[in-house]
Amino acid sequence: MELILDTADAAAVRELSDCFAVSGVTTNPTIITRSGKTPEEVARQMIKVLHPHQKFFMQVIATDTQGILADAHAIKALQVADGPEMCVKIPVTPEGYKAMKTLSTEKMTVLATAIYSADQGFMAALNGVQYLAPYVNRMDNYGDGVREVSDLLSMLAKAGLTTKVCAASFKNVRQIHELIKEGIDAVT
Ligand code: G3P
Repeated sequence: MELILDTADAAAVRELSDCFAVSGVTTNPTIITRSGKTPEEVARQMIKVLHPHQKFFMQVIATDTQGILADAHAIKALQVADGPEMCVKIPVTPEGYKAMKTLSTEKMTVLATAIYSADQGFMAALNGVQYLAPYVNRMDNYGDGVREVSDLLSMLAKAGLTTKVCAASFKNVRQIHELIKEGIDAVT
């Protein structure tokens, strides 16, 4: 199972990586804005503290398909030889789904994000992404987030899809604990 940190704080990543088996880092525009840093600064700092066996997921900013594709290529272009694998996060909007289909033919790790239902995640998996990020706590606000993610895991398994589920948006340890019991691939 992959343990991923959802942060723009490179010092925290360094500290936690010394204690735990950290597989990588995810960020999103909200986390970066709250950090007071620019996306470029965050990327520079993360690339310095992460290693080649780890992944760094950055989210696209554009909302139209052409812009999303341009952002994705710009993120991938940040890849350096001794740095983490640069991966791209794309929200599951109609324009995002189109970009995922296009990128599935390229050598790029894509994570479909802001997933609010098992069905939204399943459709992204069919479009060829490598990771799905369902928002557990946000789904808990109107239902049962853990159950929804558990359904997604079953749907992928039944369909023979190897897409990894990286559950996100947690507000307590119980949510994480329950998903590890369900066999989640990754948590951030
Ligand atoms: O990775 C997604 C996460 O950052 C969203 O979390 O706490 O805003 O629901 P939250």
